[in-house]
Amino acid sequence: MTIRAVVSSTGRYFPGRKVLNSHFYDDLGLETTEDWIVSRTGIRSRYYVDRDAGEATAAMATHAARQCLERAGLEPSDVDGILIATVTPDHSFPSTACLVQDSLGARGAFGWDTSAACSGFLFTLAQAASLVKSGMARRLLVVGSDTMSSILDFTDRQTCIIFGDGAGCFLVEAADDDAPGGELLDFVMHVDGSGGESLKMPAGGSRRPASAETVAQGLHFVHQDGRTVFKHAVKRMGEVIEELLARNGLTSDDIGLFIPHQANQRIILACSKRFKIPMERVMLTLEHWANTTAATLPTALDLALEQGRVQRGDYVVFATFGAGYTWGASLLRW
Ligand code: UT7
Repeated sequence: MTIRAVVSSTGRYFPGRKVLNSHFYDDLGLETTEDWIVSRTGIRSRYYVDRDAGEATAAMATHAARQCLERAGLEPSDVDGILIATVTPDHSFPSTACLVQDSLGARGAFGWDTSAACSGFLFTLAQAASLVKSGMARRLLVVGSDTMSSILDFTDRQTCIIFGDGAGCFLVEAADDDAPGGELLDFVMHVDGSGGESLKMPAGGSRRPASAETVAQGLHFVHQDGRTVFKHAVKRMGEVIEELLARNGLTSDDIGLFIPHQANQRIILACSKRFKIPMERVMLTLEHWANTTAATLPTALDLALEQGRVQRGDYVVFATFGAGYTWGASLLRW
């Protein structure tokens, strides 16, 4: 019998500190304006963790996972595993998944982290679908959680304005034919490491361990060649959506909702135009939440479900692009 893997519940969490664009020009004194940020990115606000209170990636992931489980009427001990996508783990090790397993009290669950930047959630969802479809697990929490505010250079006006913090969670379960939820039908995934220089954190890893010198040079922050990343994002996301639709015999007319990675509204508009999908069927969350890296896709679907934008029978397409380069698309049916 074929086992179906279904997204049966979702959850999201944003920290309490809402940061408006004015923070950058009024509080930090950066040479930027409301008009530049809104017209070049579409972003008006983002949320940051309260680091003084110890809030970081695992804590946000735990909140999102709890909400997801509560909505499903399940206990943490009911899950087989916890898979986390993040580039801002609380520590290099132990993994964020171990911290979340402990804080949730998910006795008996296995878990690990995946690092694929903005594509991290989509790649991790593919892992979850494979584990469930192969029969190796029956019920998994899949979380995208990133504390981008911990790795931003707040003197770099081009980069610091686009990111925010947050976490989103899916419950992925083995399900019968009639079970409600979003069936995970297909994934297309790619990487191209030759693009690594365009978006990276240069130090703090094994090649250049953190030192007084690397910190003084700001090498533990995100370094981005925004223009180059922008061009690749538009091209690669467009290509991967076409690849996904072609191999499933679908066109954009068949898609109920397109949920792209939320980095820049102009990237999303360009992809939607190429994909020939009207903006009424495109999910946009970056205006309020900005780019939360691994959390953009699960938080966007969570909001779409809350707003009643996904109906039974609808196809939903995710597409993403990020550091690496990494990119991919996936197809779900509700
Ligand atoms: O999620 C991970 C993947 N990341 C992405 O997908 C991000 C992709 N890139 C982008 O979203 C955009 O490239 C940015 C938002 C990062 C930058 O926007 P842009 O339209 O590509 O700006 P640009 O880098 O081409 O810069 C244009 C001008 C420059 O001035 P000059 O050289 O023309 O005088 C910049 O110095 O805008 C200037 N600029 C700013 N001006 C005011 C750059 N950032 C700012 C700013 N405020 N915050």
